[in-house]
Amino acid sequence: MSVPKVAAVIGAGTMGPGMAAVLARAGSEVRLYDISDEVLERARGGYALATGALDRVEAASGPGGSVAFENDLAPALDGAELVLEAVPEKLDLKREVIAAFEDHLADDAIIASNTSGIPITQIATALKHPGRLVGMHWSNPPHLIPMIEVVPGEQTAAAVCAARMPKPSAVSRPATSRRLAVARTQSLHICRALVAQDERRRRVSQPLGWRECVHCASW
Ligand SMILES: NC(=O)c1ccc[n+]([C@@H]2O[C@H](COP(=O)([O-])OP(=O)(O)OC[C@H]3O[C@@H](n4cnc5c(N)ncnc54)[C@H](O)[C@@H]3O)[C@@H](O)[C@H]2O)c1
Repeated sequence: MSVPKVAAVIGAGTMGPGMAAVLARAGSEVRLYDISDEVLERARGGYALATGALDRVEAASGPGGSVAFENDLAPALDGAELVLEAVPEKLDLKREVIAAFEDHLADDAIIASNTSGIPITQIATALKHPGRLVGMHWSNPPHLIPMIEVVPGEQTAAAVCAARMPKPSAVSRPATSRRLAVARTQSLHICRALVAQDERRRRVSQPLGWRECVHCASW
């Protein structure tokens, strides 16, 4: 996928604002939705912080790009090509939330769950079109860690799996987040091979060191 023209992020807690900031930065018209008005109010601050951080690291940006903070699901999903679900890590809740999306979405819209460990196949049984669901596991802070783990379920359509976010991605077999830990270790190994020891110590001791390691792995 190139950058989705319209994207929705559902759940504006810890992860949602940074994910929305990345998408808006890439040029998407983003709707950030939550059931809690209080959370949405806080998310404005989180979004601004994430955007400021992206400015400071001079992250690439695409034309356009915007965010709207929504407490009504229908306008949040209207026209969305990609919906990122970031509600709490509970199977029943995720199933209930994504089932409600389908009535508002075009048939080819992709739903991505940010689940850390729930099998995508189990979440997908809530959908009429389970092939449209994929795991897209972002790391925290989502605006600074430039790689997402793409985790298909048993029924995820190949085209959905091949869809690309505006970030490097690593496609896993259906699995838990343990895979991400493995990817991190591999990234560090590659970083070791590429960077002199002193420089490596400096880089990995900073929060952004992780980011550079992942960059190494994704090239
Ligand atoms: N926090 C992390 O470090 C991290 C990292 C990677 C992945 N994840 C995953 O991302 C997902 C979200 O995690 P989080 O830490 O952002 O959770 P969070 O609890 O901080 O935020 C979840 C938000 O979802 C909202 N919500 C609850 N029910 C909703 C509904 N029906 N519709 C819309 N919004 C609803 C809540 O009001 C809350 O603001 C989880 O699956 C988690 O495993 C989290």
